[in-house]
Amino acid sequence: LTLDLLLIPLAYLIGSISFAVVVSKCMNLPDPHSYGSGNPGATNVLRTGNKLAAGLTFLGDALKGYFAVMLARLLLGDQSLTSSLGSWVLCGVVLAVFLGHLFPIFHGFKGGKGVATACGILFGVNVILGIATLGTWIIVAVFMRYSSLAALAAAVFGPIYFVFLFGFQPMGISLLVVCLLLIWRHRSNIQNLLNGTESRIGSKKNKT
Ligand code: G3P
Repeated sequence: LTLDLLLIPLAYLIGSISFAVVVSKCMNLPDPHSYGSGNPGATNVLRTGNKLAAGLTFLGDALKGYFAVMLARLLLGDQSLTSSLGSWVLCGVVLAVFLGHLFPIFHGFKGGKGVATACGILFGVNVILGIATLGTWIIVAVFMRYSSLAALAAAVFGPIYFVFLFGFQPMGISLLVVCLLLIWRHRSNIQNLLNGTESRIGSKKNKT
C-alpha cells in the first residue's frame, strides 16, 4: 500500500502539465494567460482562432486525466470496476490529477478550470459515465453556445449519473469534490452569465 500511495503525487505531477501552455508554445501562439479570459484551457485557446490548437489542448488535458486513472487502475491491479470505485488510493489519484491541473507546479500554480481533465477522469472511471456527462456538455453547448454553462451543467449532472449508475461509493465523493471545485473555478463565468456578459463559444472576450 505504501508504494501505491506514490501514485497520488505522480498523478498530481501528470495533472500539472498544462496542455494549453505546452500546445501554445509548440504552435507559436501567445501564452493563454495573456488574452481572452486568461484561462489556460481549450475554450480560451480557441479565442486565438486556431481550432487545431484548441482541439489538441482539450485532448491533452483530457488524456492526462484518463491516463492517470487508467495507470493507477492498472498498477493497483484493481481493474474491475466494482473494486476500483471503493479504492481510496484511486479516489486520491482522481483528486490529485485534477488539483494538478488547477494548481500546476510547473506553471506557477496558475492552472485551468478543469473541464477537459474532469472529462478524461470520468471516462477513466467508466466509459458510460464519461459519455453521459460529455453528452450533457455537448447538448448545452450546442443549444446555448456557452462553454462555461455547458461545463456547469455537466458538473451538476456528472455526480448524479454516477450515483444513478453505481450507487453510493467512495469514488462518488472524489467526483463530487472534483465537480464542486470545477464550479468554484467558474465563479467569474457564473457572474458573467448572470450579467449577460459571458462570451459565446469561439468569440473573443476581454481578460477578466
Ligand atoms: O468551462 C469552460 C471554461 O473553460 C471557460 O473558459 O476561458 O471562457 O473562462 P473561459
